[in-house]
Amino acid sequence: MDSPSPESTVASLLAPHKGILAADESLKTIGGRFRALNIASTAESRRAYRELLFTARGLSEHISGAILFDETLRQQIGPVPMPDALALEGIIPGIKVDGGTSDLPRFAGEKFTQGLDGLRERLVQYRELGARFTKWRAVMSAGDSLPTRTCIEGNARALALFAAMSQEAGLVPIVEPEVLMDGNHTLARCEEVTERVLNSVFAALSNQRVALETMLLKVGMVLPGKDCQQREDPAHVAEATLRCLRRSVPAAVPGIVFLSGGQSGTSATANLNAICGTAGAPWKLSFSFGRALQDQAMEAWKGSRRNAAAAQAALLHRASCNGLAVQGLYSDAAERGARADGV
Ligand code: 13P
Repeated sequence: MDSPSPESTVASLLAPHKGILAADESLKTIGGRFRALNIASTAESRRAYRELLFTARGLSEHISGAILFDETLRQQIGPVPMPDALALEGIIPGIKVDGGTSDLPRFAGEKFTQGLDGLRERLVQYRELGARFTKWRAVMSAGDSLPTRTCIEGNARALALFAAMSQEAGLVPIVEPEVLMDGNHTLARCEEVTERVLNSVFAALSNQRVALETMLLKVGMVLPGKDCQQREDPAHVAEATLRCLRRSVPAAVPGIVFLSGGQSGTSATANLNAICGTAGAPWKLSFSFGRALQDQAMEAWKGSRRNAAAAQAALLHRASCNGLAVQGLYSDAAERGARADGV
């Protein structure tokens, strides 16, 4: 397979009207999501599910790249290795390379992300298997006294090492510091925490000499916590999100892709639409959703081949609505599936 430069991988991932499908759930996470729908989680059921997602006809109209889990990168669609099957469809294969989160010792309620040991060697192998970009996720809680400086700085340092090693291996890193939606914090508190986290992450990236031009940032939108009484409309979410990002993300970063973080599919799309519909951002803005793209598809599938077409239709619908949102063109009519010409 050709070996595109990191610059061209970045440009392809940020192609107009497209975003990234995050299908990189760990065995534990996909197991939990399958169990909630009474679907058995086996290597074959996980493979079949990912095959269903990746072979939805026309997916590449709205999806530029897909993030895979280690197991999936090594699986096949018929005789074709999964990353090659994606590349043949015009979708760039990527890989989640972190080892998940663990409790941060002596800091109750906080986590650090594992996986730096042996990462250099794994990156070389992932590239040989066809991956062109990587992802590492750190999580931070927003509370009255969280996250602590120790948690933020430790995770920022690991993100910077991951990003530098990915670039050394010729891969494009997606740096993902996620401020979790769990809790009752306000939108203002989420904005304050996100800004602090991003300032620390970009200081660490600079110290580690990461080339900002060949990385992407993946963040949550600035939102109130799930248990906060005060809900916010998309216009307020967009205003706070863009203000926060402008204050903390250098313009040299080519693109910012949003995670969905537990929002419903339609809320994530509506908020993305408001953010991307606001002019004047110095970076390209798009999505890298997991649940907000997949939830309805997984529910429709229910683990049965008979439901594959309905599941693919659900995925394609969400991908197409998000493709419109990236342009600020999402509407209720689009959500209902109405055509732009009214037919
Ligand atoms: P969600 O969109 O479900 O938050 O997942 C995105 C992701 O890749 C988290 O690491």
